[in-house]
Amino acid sequence: MGNIVKILGFAGSLRKGSYNRALLRAALELVPGDAELEIFDLNGISLFNQDLENQPSEKLKEFKAKIKAADAVLIATPEYNYSIPGVLKNAIDCASRPYGDNAFEHKPVAIMGASIGMTGSARAQYHLRQCFVFLTCFALNHPEVMVPFAQEKIDKDGKLTDQKTKEKIRELLESLVAWTRRLKG
Ligand SMILES: Cc1cc2nc3c(=O)[nH]c(=O)nc-3n(C[C@H](O)[C@H](O)[C@H](O)COP(=O)(O)O)c2cc1C
Repeated sequence: MGNIVKILGFAGSLRKGSYNRALLRAALELVPGDAELEIFDLNGISLFNQDLENQPSEKLKEFKAKIKAADAVLIATPEYNYSIPGVLKNAIDCASRPYGDNAFEHKPVAIMGASIGMTGSARAQYHLRQCFVFLTCFALNHPEVMVPFAQEKIDKDGKLTDQKTKEKIRELLESLVAWTRRLKG
């Protein structure tokens, strides 16, 4: 790791007007000066088929290479039916295989999430944390960034307008950078 902590961010939504993608875009402007954030679009990652896990698509190769090259990962997750969306789970499954080539291994990782309901993706975030156990990720515990009623905090142009949420994301990024530096010694 150099002086700059490289963070790779991705959102578990393919929706153009996604509130979770909006959180990531907001994070681009809130990242500390000693870090940089790149956003990866999960669109185009095929459904996982174990018969084909040794023949990854170019898109999956790119995704895995970017995770491996990053010092830390930031995931913005929606909540679907009290859990994480299939798009996100599929991308994680794909990048964790084949056995012995898990791109997430020992990666510091932070979560944030937005939903239109009152729990702000909390249940999905806890399901995601469970996946980190087998992935051997080093999950950041605090702060938790759960954004309820996202439709009131993100405008029609997909811009985060809520100051408190911006502050939370800033705090999350600062904590992720500190956590990453601490883990890498
Ligand atoms: C299949 C599906 C299931 C959903 N389940 C939940 C849910 O369990 N909890 C919740 O708060 N919102 C739920 N929602 C609403 C999402 O919070 C909302 O669609 C949100 O905008 C998705 O994130 P995005 O804007 O990043 O695409 C669900 C939406 C879909 C499409």
